Amino acid sequence: MWIKRTFKWIGLTLLGIVGLAAIAVILVYILMGRDLARSYDITGEDIAVPSDAASIEEGQRLAQLRGCSGGCHGRTTTGGVMIELFDGTRVVAPDLGELAARYSTKDLERAIRHGVKPDGTSVLRIMPSEMLSTLSDRDLGLILAYLRSQPAGEQTLPESRYGPVARVMGFFFKRKFGSLLAAEVIDHQHSPPPEPSDEEAYGRYLANTVCTECHGSDLRGSPDGSTPSLAVVLAYSREDFETLMRAGEPLGGQELGLMAGVARSRFVRFTDDEIAALHGYLSSPDNWSD
Ligand code: HEC
Repeated sequence: MWIKRTFKWIGLTLLGIVGLAAIAVILVYILMGRDLARSYDITGEDIAVPSDAASIEEGQRLAQLRGCSGGCHGRTTTGGVMIELFDGTRVVAPDLGELAARYSTKDLERAIRHGVKPDGTSVLRIMPSEMLSTLSDRDLGLILAYLRSQPAGEQTLPESRYGPVARVMGFFFKRKFGSLLAAEVIDHQHSPPPEPSDEEAYGRYLANTVCTECHGSDLRGSPDGSTPSLAVVLAYSREDFETLMRAGEPLGGQELGLMAGVARSRFVRFTDDEIAALHGYLSSPDNWSD
């Protein structure tokens, strides 16, 4: 008799735990759904988009440096499924040629620099709008010129969607690292920077619009510790830095991971002047004091 009762209590306790867990997942699902559906009232800006061949070529280089081409959006800009999970989650990087043909310049500016889609909802922070919000009108115009020159890809991509596992992961990510939504963390009042007036300003601009994607918005390393503070460049001579940017080989010669690939596929497109400006800015002790 007592054995039967014990089993009954164990069963009920387990059922209770499973029930509570299910309620927690449903609550998180609804909460995250509210986040994803939140609308932002931001007006896009109409910037000049050139269409001559030289601008398109320079736009391609700027897009490659920032990973708009040859990064998350596929080998060029045709997009693809970035993440797929067993719970039905699918994170899709859109086809940028198709998007650039369909969206107005204002809509593109708003999506890229403010992280807000034409329907008013935010892009996830996987899309580095936080970094791209600091792009100058000129550089964004050139990147749009290149995207507008790209044909739409052959394939029709599916929509992104987020299953329960992704939402629960997102819930914990949000508690640890802040919002998952780009529009939430961007300063929308921030005006685009003027053309850099000297080498120091140019170096700062390049670091802010290329390196912050992975090295944190203050360049002092990502919050999860996967990338170091760029204060390490204090130890790099101009030549060492050039070898890192062009060949992906760091001081000390060890084999890097992601950074090596990013340097070889994207940063080889930096000009000598850009490398000098970046090195000058990152290796100046004044920029790291406080
Ligand atoms: C796509 C992500 C990504 C971007 C963009 C990126 N880095 Fe990195 N970087 C990394 C990672 C990850 C590491 C850590 C080493 C590794 O895993 O490859 C790293 C390491 C480094 C290091 C340390 C090398 C050493 O001595 O150990 C330096 C310096 C560096 N990056 C400079 C830069 C600069 C300058 C830029 C901008 C021009 C930049 N990175 C942009 C991902 C990135």
